[in-house]
Amino acid sequence: MAEIEDEEKQQIKSLGIVVPNPKPNKGFASKVVDLIENLIVKLMYDPSQPHHYLAGNFAPVLDETPPTNNLPVIGSLPECLNGEFVRVGPNPKFAPVAGYHWFDGDGMVHGMRIKDGKATYVSRYVRTSRLKQEEYFGGAKFMRIGDLKGLFGLLMVNMQILRAKLKVLDMSYGNGTGNTALIYHHGKLLALSEADKPYVLKVLEDGDLQTVGLLDYDKRLTHSFTAHPKVDPFTGEMFTFGYSHTPPYITYRVISKDGFMHDPIPITVADPIMMHDFAITENYAIFMDLPLYFRPKEMVKEKKLIFTFDPTKKARFGVLPRYAKDELLIRWFELPNCYIFHNANAWEEEDEIVLITCRLENLDLDMVNGPVKEKLENFKNELYEMRFNLKTGLASQKKLSESAVDFPRVNESYTGSVMCMEPYWTALQR
Ligand SMILES: [Fe+2]
Repeated sequence: MAEIEDEEKQQIKSLGIVVPNPKPNKGFASKVVDLIENLIVKLMYDPSQPHHYLAGNFAPVLDETPPTNNLPVIGSLPECLNGEFVRVGPNPKFAPVAGYHWFDGDGMVHGMRIKDGKATYVSRYVRTSRLKQEEYFGGAKFMRIGDLKGLFGLLMVNMQILRAKLKVLDMSYGNGTGNTALIYHHGKLLALSEADKPYVLKVLEDGDLQTVGLLDYDKRLTHSFTAHPKVDPFTGEMFTFGYSHTPPYITYRVISKDGFMHDPIPITVADPIMMHDFAITENYAIFMDLPLYFRPKEMVKEKKLIFTFDPTKKARFGVLPRYAKDELLIRWFELPNCYIFHNANAWEEEDEIVLITCRLENLDLDMVNGPVKEKLENFKNELYEMRFNLKTGLASQKKLSESAVDFPRVNESYTGSVMCMEPYWTALQR
């Protein structure tokens, strides 16, 4: 893929975009850490564990595909159709050193350009700082979520810390993969992964996809950025948050339609959690304090993943006026224990906030880890309607579907507003 030309870099800078230029180092220190890591893997990692998410339908595509024109068309494409359909997903370029989790792969964007009745296909990696550095080494060097289990996990965390301290890896441009979701805001196509800042992609005239750089909103963004921000179709604003394992655990942000990121609003939750999604309505932002905790001590003691689900805790939902300058007006509601990866939509009905969501009972993150179970036992992921009454302070919920569903999508012209409830989702039952 065409790299960014020097003369473009100044122009890119003026748009609040940082072009990652990491400086990793292959010297003596790098070789020593590799030796230690190899020893840890040899002594502690069972290589017979299958990498389910590197096989079958999940197997990575080995190469990028430059724009491939004039794809066969069955029937005809309307002449007036002019645009590019894009999707992103994890596609690891390098084999893992040990474990691999579904969330670990490098982001690869697949694009279908349709113009003048013709179709072009392209696939390109999101050229992250992490990918550039692993290309430099010719192999996996960054920590994988799939390794973060038990004492082995702790040692692998320390390998990454050591590589950063010894300047083997350059962490100054983050370590995200851009593999989770895409969103379009303020004229920019963004590739997102929740542990990093957004990567800006450019769609070129021939349909090719170019990674421009990291968006830090003129240095106003200093924390991670969810992969599922919400763009209000009426105001053009983008609403987002980041989560962290150090306080403030949650930080809420509003970005104006012309791309200005307003001041951070810390949201108080008791413990560090994984908050994957949230929701907006016309007047509110809805946060989900769900009991999937970041607990490195339990990881080591109880040989669990670094994120541990606690089935004894309530699910908490915080409703905040969406232009609040602090969290003083947040209202918290409780519902029975659950986890939620994805919401479909939310809206207001008189005194109530309605949230349509994919609710999971008994979350087992190992299910999306390397040695996946053959069958998704007890995998109850169901479409729910939740209601939070701002007048009475009470919350209620009802199940809308029996089948296992997730990854819902709605017509984004209706984000945050009442809609004919026909979300599209992916059935998970096998
Ligand atoms: Fe997601």
